[in-house]
Amino acid sequence: MRARLDIAGPGRGEPSRRPIGVFDSGVGGLTVLHDLLVRLPEENFLYLGDTARFPYGERSATELERFALQMAEELLRRGAKLLVVACNAATSAALPALRRRMMETTLGVDVLGVVRPEALQAVAATRTGRIGLLATPTTVASGSYEEAVGALDPHVTLHPVACATLAGIIQEGRQFDEQAVGTVREACAPLREARVDTVILGCTHYPLIRLMLQRLLGPEVRLISAGGALARQVEHALGGRGLRVAREGEGGGGGEGEYRFLCTGEVESFCELGTRFLQMPLGEVERVELVDVRRPAREDAL
Ligand code: DGL
Repeated sequence: MRARLDIAGPGRGEPSRRPIGVFDSGVGGLTVLHDLLVRLPEENFLYLGDTARFPYGERSATELERFALQMAEELLRRGAKLLVVACNAATSAALPALRRRMMETTLGVDVLGVVRPEALQAVAATRTGRIGLLATPTTVASGSYEEAVGALDPHVTLHPVACATLAGIIQEGRQFDEQAVGTVREACAPLREARVDTVILGCTHYPLIRLMLQRLLGPEVRLISAGGALARQVEHALGGRGLRVAREGEGGGGGEGEYRFLCTGEVESFCELGTRFLQMPLGEVERVELVDVRRPAREDAL
């Protein structure tokens, strides 16, 4: 039996007006939302940051699967027409479970993550076949990037480096002090040694220190982040389902969509950090409590 999800959110009327749901472990996914807002200015967005449980980078895959399902459910309840997992750790741990969950519902909502768009760009960019990965321990341990890159080109070698403290340091805003530079230099050392020519920024926070990474890795190294390629994928997925808001010249009004925020922790600190990560003004922010997903009743449970 298929489970029914209750759609009671804003934009319930015209399907294309429903928001694109974007979620992350906290404010880091705002670097991804930034690219989505630039590429798809006419769309409405609803962003959910699990700030109360940040960071995700050293949590178990089982735990992240549970958190990701809770967040997906909250966004679907509020009418999301497509889900973007803007967190590398959550994508790595939970994308298959999220997609299974979507199959169990009658909604047919697409779920897109950040790993595949980065793997695609990295494989296309490398000339030597040596690709570096900087990511949190959970993302590295999942093997998600090895799998994605290997499926595209089995002759490419991935050199992963797990960075336990980097996201936290960037979030605190100390990205230019000596300790921060030392941590980044340490993370880059094995990649320089492996002579990679392309490096995947496998964590939402790393685009904020792009220039420092470029300097430490060398000017020839290509740095890959998810935002732009993911935004194109979102555009195609919506277009394929007839869910894209029409633009000027396509019968649309040409106006800008709205973007709103939900977080599980304190609203004040979300606003404070969020502006730096989004690089655009934040609008409305609401605090939410997340609950566990109700599993569909099994037909054979009687
Ligand atoms: N969004 C997380 C990621 O990309 C940031 C780091 C964390 O939560 O530990 O993996």
